[in-house]
Amino acid sequence: MSSCHNKAYITTPIYYVNDIAHIGHAYTTIIADTLARYSRMSGLDTFFLTGTDEHGQKIEEAAKARGKTTQAYADEISATFKDLWDEFDISYDKFIRTTDEDHKKGAQKAFTVMYDNGDIYKDVYKGHYCISCETFFPASQLVDDEFCPECGKPTTIVEEESYFFKLSAYQDKLLAWYDENPDCILPKSKRNEVIRFVEGGLHDLSITRTSFDWGVKLPENFNDPKHVMYVWLDALMNYITALGYGTDDKDMDFWPARVHLIGKDILRFHAIYWPAFLMSLGLPLPKHIAAHGWWTRDGEKMSKSKGNVVDPRAVADAYGLDNFRYFMLREVPFGGDGDFSQKALIDRINSDLGNDLGNLLNRLIGMSGKYFEGTVDSANVAKYYQAELDEVHASLDKLEPLLYEMQIHRYLEELWRPLTVANKAIDMYQPWTLMKEGKEEEAMALNGLIAAILAKVSVMLYPVMPAVCTKISNALHFTIDNSSWNSMVKDTKLLDTFVLEKVDPLFPRIEEPLLKQAEPVDQKEVPKPEAKKAETKNDTKEDGIALIGIDQFFQTSLKVGTVVKAEEVPKSKKLLLLQVDVGEEQPRQVVAGIKEWYSADDMLNTQVCVVANLKPAKLMGMLSEGMLLAAKDGDGLCMIRPEKPKTAGTKIG
Ligand code: MSP
Repeated sequence: MSSCHNKAYITTPIYYVNDIAHIGHAYTTIIADTLARYSRMSGLDTFFLTGTDEHGQKIEEAAKARGKTTQAYADEISATFKDLWDEFDISYDKFIRTTDEDHKKGAQKAFTVMYDNGDIYKDVYKGHYCISCETFFPASQLVDDEFCPECGKPTTIVEEESYFFKLSAYQDKLLAWYDENPDCILPKSKRNEVIRFVEGGLHDLSITRTSFDWGVKLPENFNDPKHVMYVWLDALMNYITALGYGTDDKDMDFWPARVHLIGKDILRFHAIYWPAFLMSLGLPLPKHIAAHGWWTRDGEKMSKSKGNVVDPRAVADAYGLDNFRYFMLREVPFGGDGDFSQKALIDRINSDLGNDLGNLLNRLIGMSGKYFEGTVDSANVAKYYQAELDEVHASLDKLEPLLYEMQIHRYLEELWRPLTVANKAIDMYQPWTLMKEGKEEEAMALNGLIAAILAKVSVMLYPVMPAVCTKISNALHFTIDNSSWNSMVKDTKLLDTFVLEKVDPLFPRIEEPLLKQAEPVDQKEVPKPEAKKAETKNDTKEDGIALIGIDQFFQTSLKVGTVVKAEEVPKSKKLLLLQVDVGEEQPRQVVAGIKEWYSADDMLNTQVCVVANLKPAKLMGMLSEGMLLAAKDGDGLCMIRPEKPKTAGTKIG
């Protein structure tokens, strides 16, 4: 980030409402919140935007599979994001939803402007279409030049009418922009990736769809009601519609964005499409697009579809929200991936936070209480400890640029140096020895030095750990704001005389993981359900299976189910653990022996046929409340599924 005008607009991506928030989402939001808090503290007029991305086929289908209207479903999930950010005290100024009327109007206005500028044309989109998957696939992805890479069925060549954006016309302009703005994409290694991609050539972009309905309609004067905007066009526009683009323009003076914070998976949309759209709209380009890495579990990207997500609320509840924030920002270099582990989190809390920071405050409370009844007077700090003060300020001066370069882990590392200076000073000058030698003034100055360091560090740590730093500043009788940031960090002022009150330890030591790990599963083979003998005396066919009457068939309750969660059972070669919505209040847990043929990812959000009135059974210690219909022959196993999406719980028979 660079500080060229006194306004700062900071954004997170808008989150899809087909997923619930996990620590990956929390990470993006917490970084943006940290930047916004720093920005405000340093006196900039700041606008911090977050929200939800609610259109597209994915959302429409997720809603249908749950038997809800798309709007009701989007309302529900959007609220879960907003609630989480509120609980996390995220300091956003606006929470945008792409289903907001103002947003839709703004997106339509942008479409018109781009069209009027000659960047949008109507044509026919030709491609290999899999009807079963309702998706176009490029020829390069087809199996044997013909078959769908997803489901294996033959594809057909389909032509669909679509509006296109002339992305190809922006190739050179984009390359010039990357060239002239070396830090427009951070970290810089990511900028090189983008440049290589654009140099490879850009194709025009299909920006409308006719195959589904859940999206922003084209402006009325286009007279083309079957088209809705491509979800990424609609979504990216949120960054300007939130400021009033296309409606009242109320906050457009915050544009261009100081920084769009994103994950690396959505870099191309932000670093290629978005600047091209903005050029077409005649708007200035964002100052920075900063792409962070992924949080992984056992080396795999965390995502609901993999069933390996960590719940940010559970982590914050167990370990403390500020501790969690500190851990995320300190543990992983910005741009890199990080594996979440409770051990690493506990180490950071006990060591960096407990030993270095919390303990320093305790030492100050001890020393000032024992020798000076809690009074801390800074009058003579410079007389005895100028060298220490200089060292502290040398570190403080390095901080802001590190934050602007998105090197937040280095910012925190550098911020810990003053704490080392303080702890070392106590060990070296030993207040108890000074007191014994009658050097009271020097001992008091030492306390003043420690208090000043704690104050300065807590100002700069505030954006990362707001609640904890507010506690520290309360104990030290000062307020963290633009004026203390100016006087104590930018300038070298110390604290006024005050009486330090006792505070409870800020970071009690943690000995053991506080969150339950996934239960270890034993390695027993899956017991085969015993083939039940037909109890009736009906005729039998030659394969030994009894013929039954229709009423007997109807004793089996078969239902359409939607897999709403799917995870691999660790250490089991055969089992997947599924949560299947069969139209009841809670999804059913089903343990299915299908892992050889289907991954958890394959199963998620798909529909299955469930035998819903089987007695629950336990497989490898896990309750299974149903069975899925599947067919197996020499070629392997395949699930039996409804041909078209059906509401979860629909009776089969
Ligand atoms: N809706 C789009 C963004 C549109 S912005 C105009 C989207 N949404 S998302 O919900 O799938 O992802 C939102 C953000 O969460 C992205 O920045 C993504 O990188 C981040 N994360 C999702 N999973 C993540 C991890 N496992 N780790 C870190 N961040 C990850 O994409």
